[in-house]
Amino acid sequence: MVFALFQLLSVLPLIAFGEPVEHRTRAFARGNWTLTQEGTTGVSAMQLTVVSDTKAIVFDKIEHNPLLVNGHPAWASEIDLPSRTIRPLNPLSNTFCGTGSFLSNGTFVHSAGNPIEIEVGAPYGEYCGLQSVRLFTPCNDGSCDIIENPNRLRLATKRWYTASTRLEDGSVLIFGPNVMFSFINNASVNNPTFEFFPPKNIHGFNGLQIPSKFLVDTLIANQFPTVMSLPDGNLFVVANQEAMLFNWKTNRETRLPRLPNGIRISYPFSGGVVMLPLTIENNFTPEILTCGGAAISDALPDIEYSSQSPASTQCARMVLNKAGIASGWKVEHMPQPWTMVELVLLPDRRVLLVNGMRSGVSGFNSVHDPVGQSNADHPNFTPFIYDPNAPAGRRFSSAGVTSKIARMYHSTATVIPDGSILIAGSNPNADFVANATFPSEYRMEFLSPPYMFENRPTFRGLPALVDYGKTFTLDITLPATATGVTVALMDFGFATHTVHMDQKFVEMRSTLSRDRKSIRVTAPANPRLFSPGPGFVFIVTDKGVPSVAKRLIIGKGASPPVDQGAIDKYGLHYLFLTASLITVCSLLKNTEPPTA
Ligand SMILES: *[C@@H]1O[C@H](CO)[C@@H](O)[C@H](O)[C@H]1NC(C)=O
Ligand SMILES: *[C@@H]1O[C@H](CO)[C@@H](O)[C@H](O)[C@H]1NC(C)=O
Ligand SMILES: *[C@@H]1O[C@H](CO)[C@@H](O)[C@H](O)[C@H]1NC(C)=O
Ligand SMILES: *[C@@H]1O[C@H](CO)[C@@H](O)[C@H](O)[C@H]1NC(C)=O
Repeated sequence: MVFALFQLLSVLPLIAFGEPVEHRTRAFARGNWTLTQEGTTGVSAMQLTVVSDTKAIVFDKIEHNPLLVNGHPAWASEIDLPSRTIRPLNPLSNTFCGTGSFLSNGTFVHSAGNPIEIEVGAPYGEYCGLQSVRLFTPCNDGSCDIIENPNRLRLATKRWYTASTRLEDGSVLIFGPNVMFSFINNASVNNPTFEFFPPKNIHGFNGLQIPSKFLVDTLIANQFPTVMSLPDGNLFVVANQEAMLFNWKTNRETRLPRLPNGIRISYPFSGGVVMLPLTIENNFTPEILTCGGAAISDALPDIEYSSQSPASTQCARMVLNKAGIASGWKVEHMPQPWTMVELVLLPDRRVLLVNGMRSGVSGFNSVHDPVGQSNADHPNFTPFIYDPNAPAGRRFSSAGVTSKIARMYHSTATVIPDGSILIAGSNPNADFVANATFPSEYRMEFLSPPYMFENRPTFRGLPALVDYGKTFTLDITLPATATGVTVALMDFGFATHTVHMDQKFVEMRSTLSRDRKSIRVTAPANPRLFSPGPGFVFIVTDKGVPSVAKRLIIGKGASPPVDQGAIDKYGLHYLFLTASLITVCSLLKNTEPPTA
């Protein structure tokens, strides 16, 4: 009798409490994925970000795109997601290889780029883009465009293949790497500095660029580093084979274990990097996943790289707390070698792996055996899904759909508010090419996970703005099968060159009403968890089925802090350089070294 009771007691907790937690975080809708081709981007979608519930914007480089704006070929466009139609946008300078992040007031900042494109005989941009700052404040009525004011608004220094991240104070940090176009970095074209927009008077530099030792130590292959804001206020940075925690407020670098097995993951080896969802269950502890790249020397002459050199199969994960860093990167392998693999966070807490190829390197026209102009070959036509919560060895599965479109260098992918994934771009060519093996690709594809075909939850009553720690109530309708619901706040990021600036998933604390008709949600506790500015809210059932997302602003919606002293300094610096910037930017083969 005593023995029987003991047996019963030891079983009870499992029945009562064990199962629901496991179930809640690991569930996702099962069934078929679909892939449909609908609409075109008008310009090649090498850079892509979602700016509202219905719009995304695309940046290309200056080239002979058939889409016109102001009587010349366009190199940026706005996509209306529901109708799959586009509207050309009209930047003034060449946006080729810039970066982008959102400010706390909802304005998108695109910065850096390339000189006027004299090389391809398309000198439409009036201004050299290397120091450009371009602002885009989203609208729903076709009235907004990219705002550039090169006489007043500019970076402190020339940047190309740079990265950026939203900061906890609502401004943007812009990090590295080149003062001019270069297939691969080197000490004479490196820009081992960072700066802020709006500029700050910090570390004694008063608005000018601030040196970064990490960007010297990570030469050669450190272009398009990944920079992410972490919940403790540090940044996580990875470039080439090295990673660090970076405290931008004290300018202190703390090195992390280097990537295992000689794998390089930044351009031109271009692996993917993502921060896994920050959830209540993991106590908002950041964990990084990197996948792909290659174990190729970064010190070869350009011509010795090959479109046929195999990519890596390696993924590596590390938890960014004391214990996780002490135990280092945990290695696992994708079902195939993969370079230029986009890692896209899904609202059901999984990661999509899409686009890219099995061999070669990023860029065009520089390896000894290009395919057409492509530096890479063997495109991947089938997306995979990675479930970070599944046991090791069972995390990868195929989406089971096959595209007909090769998504080579300069392709992109992002989740959009309806929960599907927009796949666009591919242009391993110097100028528009219609009929190569790997042409300039304008066709959009929409990848729909099985949850798109389920009965989905809906919600109403999302405020336009919610401050940190504040609670709000949503009216919801849940499908009958749902027994619980969680709330995800997502930044879909700005995708370019396999890097997804600012991509983030933060669970928001929530309580479902007893009648299941409303849910009380609490915004992130502080701006380190989710930088102030726009985010997208999904409610997700315990079966892994998300609602359609809606955008809101987290924080007060205020503009980022402005330091007039730093702006004045940076203004003077600019006047001094104006002539060279506007007129001879594209002719200069090297420019002033960054001043320390
Ligand atoms: C999924 O696809 C398979 C193969 O095309 C098909 O047999 C099956 O009926 C589909 N399942 C659903 C739920 O649509
Ligand atoms: C550095 O890169 C530039 C641009 O690609 C190139 O012109 C220069 O020769 C390179 N320098 C060295 C030392 O490799
Ligand atoms: C593309 O078209 C041009 C002009 O018609 C032709 O010369 C070229 O061979 C074509 N290239 C390919 C890869 O089909
Ligand atoms: C957001 O802040 C930036 C930087 O101060 C400013 O240029 C921009 O106009 C602001 N946007 C809005 C919508 O107020």
